[in-house]
Amino acid sequence: MCGIIGIIGKAPVAPLLLEALKRLEYRGYDSAGIATLVNGRIERRRAEGKLVNLDHRLAEEPLGGTIGIGHTRWATHGKPSERNAHPIATSRVAVVHNGIIENFQVLKDELVAEGRRFDSDTDTEVVAQLLTSYLEAKMSPEEAMAKAMGRLRGAFALAVLLSGREDILMGARRGSSLAVGYGDGAMYIGTDALALAPFTKRVSYLRDNDWVVLRLDGCKIYQGHTEVTREIRDSGLSGEMTGKGNHQHYMLKEIHEQPAVIGDTLQSYIDPATRAVRLPELPFDWNAVSRVTMTACGTAFYACLVAKYWFEALARLPVEAEVASEFRYREPPLPAGGVCIAVSQSGETVDTLAAMRYAKSQNQTLLSVVNVPESAIARESDAVLPTLAGPEIGVASTKAFTTQLTVLLVAALAAGRARGTVTAAQEEGLTRALIEMPEQVNDVLGREEECRRIAVDILAKARDVLYLGRGSSFPVALEGALKLKEISYIHAEGYAAGEMKHGPIALIDEHVPVVVVAPSDSVFEKTASNFEQVKARGGKLVLLTDAAGAARLGSHAAATIVLPTVDPVVAPILYTVAVQMLAYYAALAKGTDVDQPRNLAKSVTVE
Ligand code: F6R
Repeated sequence: MCGIIGIIGKAPVAPLLLEALKRLEYRGYDSAGIATLVNGRIERRRAEGKLVNLDHRLAEEPLGGTIGIGHTRWATHGKPSERNAHPIATSRVAVVHNGIIENFQVLKDELVAEGRRFDSDTDTEVVAQLLTSYLEAKMSPEEAMAKAMGRLRGAFALAVLLSGREDILMGARRGSSLAVGYGDGAMYIGTDALALAPFTKRVSYLRDNDWVVLRLDGCKIYQGHTEVTREIRDSGLSGEMTGKGNHQHYMLKEIHEQPAVIGDTLQSYIDPATRAVRLPELPFDWNAVSRVTMTACGTAFYACLVAKYWFEALARLPVEAEVASEFRYREPPLPAGGVCIAVSQSGETVDTLAAMRYAKSQNQTLLSVVNVPESAIARESDAVLPTLAGPEIGVASTKAFTTQLTVLLVAALAAGRARGTVTAAQEEGLTRALIEMPEQVNDVLGREEECRRIAVDILAKARDVLYLGRGSSFPVALEGALKLKEISYIHAEGYAAGEMKHGPIALIDEHVPVVVVAPSDSVFEKTASNFEQVKARGGKLVLLTDAAGAARLGSHAAATIVLPTVDPVVAPILYTVAVQMLAYYAALAKGTDVDQPRNLAKSVTVE
């Protein structure tokens, strides 16, 4: 949600700021803007809606200057409009801001009492006004920033431009992510390494409560009034890595990257010689774990739901999977010796972070499965199991989800081995099934045209779609429904197949397609009964199954996609790829904005 970029350099910055904002589009936004210093004065161009509108504004009224800040805004306080778009500025200070200033009303009342006039409905404006008030009281920019950090409450990242100060750009973070980029004769500040990728790979990730002053030749980072050092690292990202390649959308590119990234992820968790699972050293013994609490949001939560089946069946461990936004406020008692596993692509999701903090307060050991190793969730964990999905830009999670599943299955296997509930032979069989996964996923990608046809002919024409699955296919059904609704705006629901007759069956008629996720597994026959119940009521069935399942039920379905026959344990990874393609092509047929669906953000940094 929201994206920040700031540049101090020698060349005109407006086009560079715009380029960086394009890299941040994936985070989700509804207005955008940039500010630069022109002859020492703050000049802004802002626009509601997509960046193309800002681009037009800049074409009408170009902006000079070699220092500036830019922002993509996802509205929280104040509706999406040009007036509320960032940078928010006074005549002395321009600010771009991610996050929420929780005590903005208290600060605003104080500042209004001082006689300051507010021009926007945003919480951000208190930062600009507060800094202005300190500067007018003759504080240096550094003093003003240190003092403001002491007054602001909430989670935020900031970049600040000062009138008359072409020599410095400032930034600060608490909670929301912010990185400094080291260029050749230029310095950068941005939400993440992706925004900085077109300019530099050399980055420092700021820590909570850090604030920074950038100059042309470097930067100084502070905590309070004390200067601190932060390691400069190679982000490993290049501008090209974050492009769409030959694909029409990031989402399609990321769907197609799955064989490679699942392979990369497996390589770091399975010893190719012995085929044994190899986890990094963990700060707990699986044998001593009393309970596993898994927590996440959205698609990542569905990864937890799949993993619950795996940990329970393979490691015989009691597992609760909890939606983070509920778990954090429910305050459940957690047993001594428990482990909390948080799952997140971005590593920034604020509810997941808060759920982890709650689990920590209950003395749980924190293990996280994250795609961004520098993220807050990774940093606050006692141990991290990284997914090696690479940057995921499409708002809808695809390769992050299947790599989360891969890591979680490997972890469940490791737990099972340690607890003596998985034999060496079982481990070998399942690691073989996993090692074959990239090839099997490739096979599923070979069904793209079939998926497209079904999506266009059946799903895209529907107003409502049901997804059914049993056992570990139930979370895949939930994920299929989420993927479809979020990118195509078609209403979709995922149900446990056995629950259908307890309510949703009332919806079934010839207008409601029902996608049934049914690999040949121990519950296939039960799902087959539910399939027949839908059929008997005239439902239009789309069957996802393997050759045996197709032989048994295919003739009753309006359409069948036959997927490779695999060990049922790994089936959720494979079947997910098919539901992703169905959703993608349905959205394409509907003409929606696949990579940046309305109202959605990639990193959800507000509650
Ligand atoms: C859906 C989707 C979201 C995210 C959720 C959690 O396609 O992407 O539901 O899964 O917002 O995000 P992370 O994984 O970054 O914590």
